[in-house]
Amino acid sequence: MTNQVILVTGGAGYVGSHTCLALHQAGLKPVVYDDLSRGYRWAARFGPLEEGNILDTRRLVDAITSHKPAAIIHFAALTYVGESQSDPALYYRNNVAGTLSILEAMKQTKMDTIVFSSTAAVYGAPDITPIPEDVPLLPVNPYGTSKLTVERMLADFSSAYGFKAAALRYFNAAGADPEARIGEAHDPETHLIPLVLDAASGRRKSIAMFGDDYPTADGTCIRDYIHVLDLAEAHVKALSFLRSATEARMLALNLGTGLGASVLQVIETAERVTGRIISVQKGPRRPGDPPALVADASRAKAILGWSAARPALETQIQDAWRWHQVHFGLGLAGVV
Ligand code: UFG
Repeated sequence: MTNQVILVTGGAGYVGSHTCLALHQAGLKPVVYDDLSRGYRWAARFGPLEEGNILDTRRLVDAITSHKPAAIIHFAALTYVGESQSDPALYYRNNVAGTLSILEAMKQTKMDTIVFSSTAAVYGAPDITPIPEDVPLLPVNPYGTSKLTVERMLADFSSAYGFKAAALRYFNAAGADPEARIGEAHDPETHLIPLVLDAASGRRKSIAMFGDDYPTADGTCIRDYIHVLDLAEAHVKALSFLRSATEARMLALNLGTGLGASVLQVIETAERVTGRIISVQKGPRRPGDPPALVADASRAKAILGWSAARPALETQIQDAWRWHQVHFGLGLAGVV
């Protein structure tokens, strides 16, 4: 597979840019396709950037025709649960119609291999721990429904047109490139670990703890935090698996560590890593948050030979903290 071009939609975003790094490290050539509406020019640093929107099928066909990628890895999506509830049209247009546009462009250019960035949000709030892939898929918000709809489209394109597709269902992406070249930079930021690090560095006064009365050991929500480079490496493995497949297929795989950490454990670990006290305001539950979401990632291990190489929360927070200091300390945010 070495030297092959891979088109990475959303490659200027958080998981997308780390996947470009992993592709580059594997000897592949990522070409980023991104409209920079939520991603950053500085994050697209491991290959050329084609600026474009995924809804623009003709622009996609042009990019495919000029770069001749062997496959597509598709990240370009909107990912805020709250925003998806207040503006579902935006989510269905970008995440569902946008993906349909990519699949049409693939059909027109006779491409057949795609790795899709899916999410644990397709499960909704299952009361089973850890969660295997074959539980009922009952998303509880338009974001999760948009991702599940795409999974179904991929299955249909696979049976009808012979597509080879993998949907990778991430649990909670965390951490950053250990060399701090790229990292997490959402605007607005809503995720626990970057908010906790903001509080550690003084960029915000405190963080809100959303509920301490859940049926968990310490009363706070449990999530399966997975290092973004582990996610990235799973994409490279999924790609190589699909490229060597001789027949059409569509597989859905969980990506997580199988370990869970509570909100309190995240805060305590961040205090240890940063050596700072983090001020916490206890608040009410955030609507829609299930008490615990932990992956059963045994299928990814069996099929791809993948498991998380950086499962420790401490490592993930150390890498995120290094990035946080470089990004905010040196003003990298303004670099284009
Ligand atoms: N939390 C707080 N305070 C905050 C932010 C988060 O206590 O200020 C808590 C949340 O209640 C939750 C945990 O920290 O228990 C993690 O919250 P995140 O917002 O970091 O992540 P989520 O688990 O809510 O969301 C992730 C992905 C979504 C995906 C969802 C369900 O970021 O894209 O998992 O799979 F939809």
